[in-house]
Amino acid sequence: MSVRTTELVDGFRHSAPYVNAHRGKTFVVMLGGEALANNHFRGILNDVALLHSLGIKIVLVYGARPQIDAGLKAAGIEPAYHNGIRITDEDTLKVIKQVAGATQFDITARLSMSLGNTPMQNAQINLVCGNFVIAQPLGVDDGVDFCLSGKVRRIDSQGLRRQLDNNCIVLMGPIGASVTGESFNLTAEEVATQVAVKLKADKIIGFSETNGLSDENGNAIAELMPNQAIEHLAKMEQDGSACTGTTAFVKASIDACRNGVPRCHLVSYLDDGALLQELFSREGIGTQIVTESAERLRRATISDIGGVLNLIRPLEEQGILVRRSREQLEMEIEQFMLIERDNLVIGCAALYPFEEDNAGEFACLVVHPDYRDADRGSVLLNNIIGQARVRGYSRLFALTTRSIHWFLEHGFNIVEVEALPNKKKQLYNYQRRSKILALDL
Ligand SMILES: CC(C)(COP(=O)(O)OP(=O)(O)OC[C@H]1O[C@@H](n2cnc3c(N)ncnc32)[C@H](O)[C@@H]1OP(=O)(O)O)[C@@H](O)C(=O)NCCC(=O)NCCS
Repeated sequence: MSVRTTELVDGFRHSAPYVNAHRGKTFVVMLGGEALANNHFRGILNDVALLHSLGIKIVLVYGARPQIDAGLKAAGIEPAYHNGIRITDEDTLKVIKQVAGATQFDITARLSMSLGNTPMQNAQINLVCGNFVIAQPLGVDDGVDFCLSGKVRRIDSQGLRRQLDNNCIVLMGPIGASVTGESFNLTAEEVATQVAVKLKADKIIGFSETNGLSDENGNAIAELMPNQAIEHLAKMEQDGSACTGTTAFVKASIDACRNGVPRCHLVSYLDDGALLQELFSREGIGTQIVTESAERLRRATISDIGGVLNLIRPLEEQGILVRRSREQLEMEIEQFMLIERDNLVIGCAALYPFEEDNAGEFACLVVHPDYRDADRGSVLLNNIIGQARVRGYSRLFALTTRSIHWFLEHGFNIVEVEALPNKKKQLYNYQRRSKILALDL
């Protein structure tokens, strides 16, 4: 019993930084027809409800390609395509409306569930469906009329935003209305992409059979930039490993990334809880298509105080760093550089000026334990050295009790207290007996 409690408590605590990072963000979750046809889709919807209750704004876009094909078959209609795009005549649209309508009701029913002893107990979700997508006909291509197959003309992003701000989940399907009062068949991928772009969403999340994409050795690929994703798609198409749902989502992700959606995640609908693992664990589980690398070095701002405190508090508790109060950090925060990954601070260092002595202190160097030994410490040091040089300092010094060799290996020498700038000398703690290391610039 006690082990289970510890796991629960550990799990909760580990997810706290992610809960903070995702709160108030907008995610477009795309559930393709393949995912909806799988038994796990109920679990996925429960997890979507959980994201909603953690303060994430959610637009849920569903597709129904395999279900529509089955519906057409049952109605004795031969599906017609041109250049891989469905041609939607009136009879086909009738089937699509039936299938999409049924899917919408199924999802609505599931997200309305509130039975005791289920994850949905007390969830009380308001789901909104509406005319947020205005469609227009695809028209005629090569003499082939796409009839009622359409494309997105406009997204009512203000209307959508109002619903999200009202704490509703917005549910959208593969049909859009036009200004002429007709309905058009759209692809769920296009709806998801356009909605995400127009809403300036933080993420699109899609589901495929596997947990993201894998390389030629079968290893999962954690991250791809749009250009790399295009190359990867080409390879998949060449060796015949492309599957429609995944390819369509990756193409949509590339498009979304290039139009300003920072991150698109692909996880498996077969893996129970993959969505939560992807969003609430350090390394995730699927593939992300990203506009820029997940990691970047930047100057800290006042809104980073929480992130820096999360990183340094455990080291302060172990006595490795001297304790800084929140107030002190607030005053010093602009002297900090950060390494940020997925909205989390995983490394930091500060440069404190001692202008009278023409020197700077390289302070509060920390790299999160999960991310050490990959040169992040050196990256922070090099940045601080650069800043010190720009300011014309002749010396950088640091105080440490546990990382003496790290500094020696990075060109610092041990010096005596006398070598410290005057102001720092007065503050030197003779009980702590930190080693003083100096680097001539
Ligand atoms: C010191 C620290 C920032 C290094 O971060 P990092 O990203 O792992 O650094 P790098 O990747 O650039 O360097 C890694 C190398 O330093 C070594 N190293 C890491 N921590 C070390 C330490 N405390 N003492 C001596 N060497 C250390 C590693 O073994 C590795 O050596 P290798 O390349 O021979 O395997 C990190 O270990 C840390 O946060 N420590 C706790 C806080 C601390 O002591 N800060 C410094 C005092 S203010």
